[in-house]
Amino acid sequence: MKTFPNDFIWGTATSSYQIEGATKLHGKGPSIWDAFSSIPGKVHNGETGDIACDHYHTFKEDIQLMKNMGVKAYRFSIAWARVMPTGKDKINEAGIQFYSDLIDELLKADIVPWVTLYHWDLPLALQLENDGWLGTSLPHYFAAYADLCFERFGDRVKNWITLNEPWVASILGYGQGVFAPGRISTSEPYLAGHHFILAHAKAVHIYRNKYSHQNGKIGITNNCDWREPLTDSKEDKEAAERALEFFLAWFADPIYKGDYPKTMKERLGDRLPKFSSEEKDMIKGTSDFFGLNHYTTMYAAHNDGNKKEQSVYGNGGISEDQHVDLSLDDNWKLTSMNWAVVPWGCKKLLQWIDARYDKPDIYITENGCAYNDELVNGEVNDQERLDFYQGYLKACQEAISEGVKLKGYFAWSFMDNFEWASGYDKRFGLHYVDFKTLKRTPKKSALWFGEVIKNNTADI
Ligand code: GAL
Repeated sequence: MKTFPNDFIWGTATSSYQIEGATKLHGKGPSIWDAFSSIPGKVHNGETGDIACDHYHTFKEDIQLMKNMGVKAYRFSIAWARVMPTGKDKINEAGIQFYSDLIDELLKADIVPWVTLYHWDLPLALQLENDGWLGTSLPHYFAAYADLCFERFGDRVKNWITLNEPWVASILGYGQGVFAPGRISTSEPYLAGHHFILAHAKAVHIYRNKYSHQNGKIGITNNCDWREPLTDSKEDKEAAERALEFFLAWFADPIYKGDYPKTMKERLGDRLPKFSSEEKDMIKGTSDFFGLNHYTTMYAAHNDGNKKEQSVYGNGGISEDQHVDLSLDDNWKLTSMNWAVVPWGCKKLLQWIDARYDKPDIYITENGCAYNDELVNGEVNDQERLDFYQGYLKACQEAISEGVKLKGYFAWSFMDNFEWASGYDKRFGLHYVDFKTLKRTPKKSALWFGEVIKNNTADI
């Protein structure tokens, strides 16, 4: 049995487009994910978030399920186009009301809201009129939207996350074209990423300057896999470090150190935009905590450029820029996303962050796994997920006991939901959702996780 610190935050996480449904109801404007998922061939089985888990109508029941589990905190995101249908100017009061009711219901249940302002569902009008995240005006519009959210919800919300995983939004949305807005390019990801960082920093300044009386915390959530050197060679060790820099330091270095990593600047040349010195000052120090989404690990090896790099879908970034080959160990177990289950990679990543960014408070804002769960006689025996959580929580506990300031852990996800381009096939939830009846059933892992939360102790 291992015990966690008394003030450890235990939570679950979701995002708006993945669970809410009601995409056209009560004045909500379309988002880039509404548009993207409506194009045949973009999402598995042609599925969309039109109904999803219908959380827009069932949020009270869902909060009751969270309460039954003993969840202390809930991370959800606001759909920008629900509160500002075109992303700017006009406010949709019905959308504000929905999130206001959701927040009140959480507080009534003693669950602390952790609110993400942007989890990829950009208002479509900003894509059409302002070129989405390639447009120089996006940071301005994002900051104005953030301002509205602080004003309306900040009396009750004390934990804000500006952006979820700008790496995924940039690489999958603007590099590989497999996520909205579906663009394919080797330079646009770096331009989009640049605007994400500026948008984040502007929002944080508004929060700190105008809303300091609300006494909240604000940060950003980045995602990163662990990269383990394939061999002990100097080349492979450097390749693994480089891969982590192109993944996590791309976004975290400007925020914690004031600029992009040197290796990115050297390798990308003009494809990596530059920050002015005023911008560097504005960006540096704009995170009260280090939000981390972590799912898996790969080996990294140096590629000398003579053979074509092994490019790994969704996990390597633009590998030609890095000269890194990624691979898996045949002995690693895989989830139904084909992501390897490697708990020690989580511990190493936490230690890497701790060392590189000078011991920040870290919150794992997502960790979890997809399996082909089935409902049998009213129960879901997801033993593999339970094993996954035991492994990863053990890694977290070890990192804490060795000095890493890990302050909280949010399981992804509270319930099965719309898994982006993979549709509803990939089940990440602690609760099983029958997508015909929309009935929720706690899986075995939910019952186990609930016990961990109640006792602050886990049999790991
Ligand atoms: C993250 C993302 C979530 C969820 C999860 C599982 O990248 O923030 O929305 O889909 O991955 O793939």
